[in-house]
Amino acid sequence: MHLGTCYFPEHWPRERWAQDAAMMAEIGIDRVRLGEFAWSRIEPEPGSFDWEWLDEAIEVLAAAGHKLILCTPTATPPKWLVDRMPDMVALDREGRPRGFGSRRHYCFSHDGYAAEAARIARVVAERYGRHDAVVGWQTDNEYGCHDTVQSFSAAAREGFRRWLAGRYDSIGALNEAWGNVFWSMEYRDFAEIELPNLTVTEANPAHWLAFRRYSSDRVIDFNRTQSQILRECSPGRDIMHNAMGFYTGYDHHDLGRDLDVMGWDSYPLGFLEMFRFSDTEKRQFARSGHPDIAAFHHDLYRGTTNGGRWNVLEQQPGPVNWARHNPAPAPGMVRLWTLEAMAHGAEMVSYFRWRQFPKAQEQMHAGILRTDASPAPAHGEVAQSAQDIAAIGTLGEAPKHAALVFAYDAEWVTQIQPQGEGCSALWAAFRSYEALRRLGLNVDIVSPAADVALYPLVVIPCLPILPDGFAQRLAQLDGQLVIGPRTGTRDPDFAIPDAQPLADLLGGEILLSETLGRGIAHEGDGWAVTRWLDHFEGEADAELVAEDGTVACWRHGNTRLCTGWPEGALISEILTRAALDAGLPTVPMPAHRRRRDCGHTVFTFDYSDGSVTWEKR
Ligand code: GAL
Repeated sequence: MHLGTCYFPEHWPRERWAQDAAMMAEIGIDRVRLGEFAWSRIEPEPGSFDWEWLDEAIEVLAAAGHKLILCTPTATPPKWLVDRMPDMVALDREGRPRGFGSRRHYCFSHDGYAAEAARIARVVAERYGRHDAVVGWQTDNEYGCHDTVQSFSAAAREGFRRWLAGRYDSIGALNEAWGNVFWSMEYRDFAEIELPNLTVTEANPAHWLAFRRYSSDRVIDFNRTQSQILRECSPGRDIMHNAMGFYTGYDHHDLGRDLDVMGWDSYPLGFLEMFRFSDTEKRQFARSGHPDIAAFHHDLYRGTTNGGRWNVLEQQPGPVNWARHNPAPAPGMVRLWTLEAMAHGAEMVSYFRWRQFPKAQEQMHAGILRTDASPAPAHGEVAQSAQDIAAIGTLGEAPKHAALVFAYDAEWVTQIQPQGEGCSALWAAFRSYEALRRLGLNVDIVSPAADVALYPLVVIPCLPILPDGFAQRLAQLDGQLVIGPRTGTRDPDFAIPDAQPLADLLGGEILLSETLGRGIAHEGDGWAVTRWLDHFEGEADAELVAEDGTVACWRHGNTRLCTGWPEGALISEILTRAALDAGLPTVPMPAHRRRRDCGHTVFTFDYSDGSVTWEKR
């Protein structure tokens, strides 16, 4: 595994570059990512390019032995471009333009901007694509960051109408599929369809789901155009993108088909602060991050490209600037996160960023160097990680224990129609993942298109829309199967299907689904049904029954149905039983410890702040 860093030569005097390059090499860094926000420096005036500085930066870095990942600078269209085509900016959900002065202000549906993005990608790729030091490309930067996938612009409305017309045979077919007879929402023509924002109360969930799909497709198209240009002008180099944590605004399985390597940006402390963790977890893991945050994304993004290749394009090196609170990582955490990425199969961990910039929006965000170029705490940990990686050497093949099935449209369905607070498919996946890892198992997070028959245990925490043929494939599994709420309950147009597609597998049907407020919990032996409850009737066996008779888990052959929301002690209990039936080698882990079995090497990661002594056996 390589170590890398994100470097912004344009932030620093030229005289400094050679020293930076040498210092990187000294601590074991040999990959440098650059150029992602440099449009205004590359093309200061329309059509007039200043390559000199970037040529020199590339030569200086290459001379120090670094291999480079260049970026297309399309996340930051310069002011002159916005002024030339003011309608290229995205409109937010309230219909307000997203102004110039930060980044990601473009609308994915704007043809004029798409052409400009393709143009700048091509000129950069033509100039550097065949340079010996260039080994990879990152397209744009973090699609969707700052809530930028959806735009409610005129261009988006036009595009959405065309997309719908391509998807439905006629407007009548769309009305029928969406149920537009309800509330007199019927259209006479595709040209009458508006975007789903600004309605009085909620818009039709089918309308929203279609718009989520449309918006996701725009990202995929935008990225595909760049990938094609890069493949043409820079043959043999890896194409990658840096995805985000807990982010589902576009379908990453779709994106991965156009990439060689899926990258992601790992900020465990920022994510702990910003996402749905309990106060106890936030306190316990304030300086380490919850022990599943990084690994969940490693195991998710590994499943998004055909070859399973992935890396960490940005790794938190110290405090960030964007969460509610921004603590420093505990000593040792940067090293731990690095080695954990290795254990999960990363090809590279690249730290964001080399040196803290004393100006502008991210002046409080740490780097490997401080603003004055002295080493920040991460510096020593990066050097130590490089030595560890060399000492550990090549890993064996990770045995396949459990497949956790996740689809992006599952999260879209549960966001559009949560039905109860906290009922999110993504979080059902996260908490099921946590429970599997507390059993010491390896987990692959896969799309429903993956070959789930390869796994002794398959877990589907929440998958409302089953792709064609998936129910049949599940019926043929030899392994153990655990199914959670809402699975198979919607067709692709968000309608409830006439027949429940999993009825045979489950040995019965769900007759009623309800969500439970804080006042209602059906307690069992150390577990409870909370948040959600499916009332099931059929021939299955009641395996977990609460004190009041509520059934929390039904079992039919090798299939278990979890009737409550899959989280906490309930999903742990069910997965423990399923893992036992699957004959898996479970190794129970305390809340702060995780393991990864890599064949001849087994890693154990301890997220507590105490010291741990290991006995060599
Ligand atoms: C990422 C982004 C970087 C930087 C970083 C700060 O989301 O890609 O450009 O802003 O966060 O943590």
